[in-house]
Amino acid sequence: MKKIIFLLINILGLFNIALFGQEEPTDFLPADFHKERRDAVRDMMPANSVAVFFANAQRNRANDVDYIYHQDPDFYYLTGYKEPNAVLVIFSENQKGSKGNTYNEILYVQERDPKAEQWNGKRLGVEGAKNKLGFEMALNGKEFQDAPIDYSSFDTVLFFDFKNDYRDAQGKADLFDLIKTFKEKANYPSNYDATKQRLYSMVKSTDIQNSANVAQTLGRYLNYYEDLKEDALLTGFVNADDDKVRDEIKQKVTMELQGNNLNSAALSEIMNTLRETKTQEEMVLLKKAIEISSVGQIEVMKAMHPHMSETEIQGVHEFVYKKYGAEYEGYPSIVGGGNNGCILHYIENNKPEVGNDDLVLMDLGAEYHGYTADVTRTIPASGKFTAEQKQIYDIVYNAQEAGIKASVVGAPFQAPGQAASKVVTEGLMKLGIIEKEEDAKIYFPHGTSHYLGLDVHDRGTYKPFQENTVITVEPGIYIPEGSDCDEKWWGIAVRIEDDILITKDGPVNLSALAPRTTEAIEATMAKASPLDEFKLPQLD
Ligand code: GLY
Ligand code: MN
Ligand code: MN
Repeated sequence: MKKIIFLLINILGLFNIALFGQEEPTDFLPADFHKERRDAVRDMMPANSVAVFFANAQRNRANDVDYIYHQDPDFYYLTGYKEPNAVLVIFSENQKGSKGNTYNEILYVQERDPKAEQWNGKRLGVEGAKNKLGFEMALNGKEFQDAPIDYSSFDTVLFFDFKNDYRDAQGKADLFDLIKTFKEKANYPSNYDATKQRLYSMVKSTDIQNSANVAQTLGRYLNYYEDLKEDALLTGFVNADDDKVRDEIKQKVTMELQGNNLNSAALSEIMNTLRETKTQEEMVLLKKAIEISSVGQIEVMKAMHPHMSETEIQGVHEFVYKKYGAEYEGYPSIVGGGNNGCILHYIENNKPEVGNDDLVLMDLGAEYHGYTADVTRTIPASGKFTAEQKQIYDIVYNAQEAGIKASVVGAPFQAPGQAASKVVTEGLMKLGIIEKEEDAKIYFPHGTSHYLGLDVHDRGTYKPFQENTVITVEPGIYIPEGSDCDEKWWGIAVRIEDDILITKDGPVNLSALAPRTTEAIEATMAKASPLDEFKLPQLD
């Protein structure tokens, strides 16, 4: 009998899963991915060092309503943890625990709290961090305060400097308290200056034969960081006449740094290197985000008609994202009709009606399980490009083609931009919109590429392209009303942006699903949309 009941419970359990599905998506990055990435960080850490990462701050919108929480991408990459008030500690070598155990990393998480969870959602807690995220050593945040981590025993304490944009909320182990604990225990001086520290480290590690070159580089930094010009050692190093004087200053700088094991620069370099190239697991999610965004562009092309509002157009894109289970937009959506398209990061999106002759510039990206797309299409509200719009569009298209072609392994990061700028400049001169080459930047004022991944403007080293890197190629031409050219071009703004995977066999356009030529766009816009039938009552 017991057996039968047991069987019945099992069958009902299976039935439950089949009927109601999983509690949450199952295609997040696996725990192994995050562990392997932490191992990769450890491999790049200096000997006898400790790295401390903090979760993003929970930001307050007003009164008792917070902004939707989003984890810091580095923290997410290394842990998979999606909640605030957490710390990750990675040690370069194994540490000995009080019970004779060894460990090389600890995750401190938010403590479970049934009351808080009833209001604000489930917490993973220590058990979840162990079972779901695969941490051998996970502890509650409040234990960070008494953690037996002696920061002075390490040669280097690696961390990202604090931007001081977090507040002390209720609770004893919120981000404010965790950072306070770290600052006290790691001897973080109240006047800590991350930039000065970085430049001192640069002088300290100078090979004296190369010191004249380092002095030149340092001089460029000092022009940028005006305040540091007052630092006698840095200015002295830059202005020194010979190696001997520079070596003396180097000794003084080394003395200054003695007893200070804080390093807030190296983690950026480590994370830039790791996040620039994507693993297979990351590519699955990134490709999905890009495909979702490309479908969004197609559905909008079908649904578009003059008199739609910019907000409604944005809503159609974002509805498609949600339909596919994308949690967020990777950045605020940009939908600019007519002249609004000339504002590069236009996010008001509040023009009540796009006009019959307007181009509509739509730069949007779905975020799927942390990874974000960044796709721009520019389409005519009426479904047909005017002759002038097509002329400008085709220049941008050809510039983008040249940029994509230049996105190959080994090429400098600037290669797509240089190739695209050349085409835009020639095109604008040919149409008589500019007379001098240097004026092209009036109408094409931004760069052509950035890395893409967990962040829309993702981390990377800006060194020559490597396999498995994803970048955007996004030239544009923007001619605002009142520009110094024939009025017939005014109000035309075109950007075309695709997400390009760099492979050893050449560039692969991951957003190619979204129509890109004027012909393909017009053909798609001629198709019917299910939204044509979606009528809502008129409101007063
Ligand atoms: N969507 C912002 C950008 O294209 O960089
Ligand atoms: Mn972009
Ligand atoms: Mn974009």
